[in-house]
Amino acid sequence: MRKPLIAGNWKMYKTPKESLAFLERFLPLVATHTRDEIALFPTMSSLGYVIEATHGTNVSAGAQTMHWLNEGPYTGQTSPTMLASIHCTHVLLGHSERRIYANETDEMVNLKLKAAIGHGLVPIVCVGETLEKRQSNLTEAVLRWQIANALNGVEAEGSEALVIAYEPIWAIGTGSTATPTQVSEAHRIIRREIAERLGQERANQTRILYGGSVKPENTAMLMAQPEIDGALVGGASLDPDTFARIVCYAS
Ligand code: PGA
Repeated sequence: MRKPLIAGNWKMYKTPKESLAFLERFLPLVATHTRDEIALFPTMSSLGYVIEATHGTNVSAGAQTMHWLNEGPYTGQTSPTMLASIHCTHVLLGHSERRIYANETDEMVNLKLKAAIGHGLVPIVCVGETLEKRQSNLTEAVLRWQIANALNGVEAEGSEALVIAYEPIWAIGTGSTATPTQVSEAHRIIRREIAERLGQERANQTRILYGGSVKPENTAMLMAQPEIDGALVGGASLDPDTFARIVCYAS
């Protein structure tokens, strides 16, 4: 059984004060929730505060990105050692906004994934096609390429915590969600590629989340798909009541 993971990606929103105000409202709303795992991804400046405020609760906190090296002359970067040292447990890798605006390549995502595994962080590797690729019938090729490159040199042993987030770029922040059928199809492609790289057993255990305009209104429909093991939520995770409705979707 794969325990669903509902993750909130706050992107470049919320000061520490705003993050703590969110938690004050959100934590009681989900305090008794055990069906799904819950994780929040605040900005680096809020991460330490969120980790402290969620300590001992059912909510985890993670970073939106990291470097793959432990230290060095890399202005602006944060290392896996540094994240682990503040008890950060999760990390997003290769989000499309990082790929587009920070020129993150498949090769970098691969290095980061290996570093995350080496430091015991739960890596959430984001993949997804552009509208152009989908319209050219290249969705499968893109997904297989991204997964194959991310997993290059990764072993089945040690990658138990691996999570993949399928986030079609055309669905992110646009309000147009992929249909449950489109998502299930993409997840099956991803799982087949994981099976080829890491074996069927690891593929069966790997959680594959969907991200792209997830809202309270479409969560139950998406989560009803056996192939969908959770959600990576952007915009709708910024409001505590809205995100709590997503986490507590009625199945
Ligand atoms: P969205 O973002 O929910 O606002 O579409 C999802 C994401 O980028 O992870």
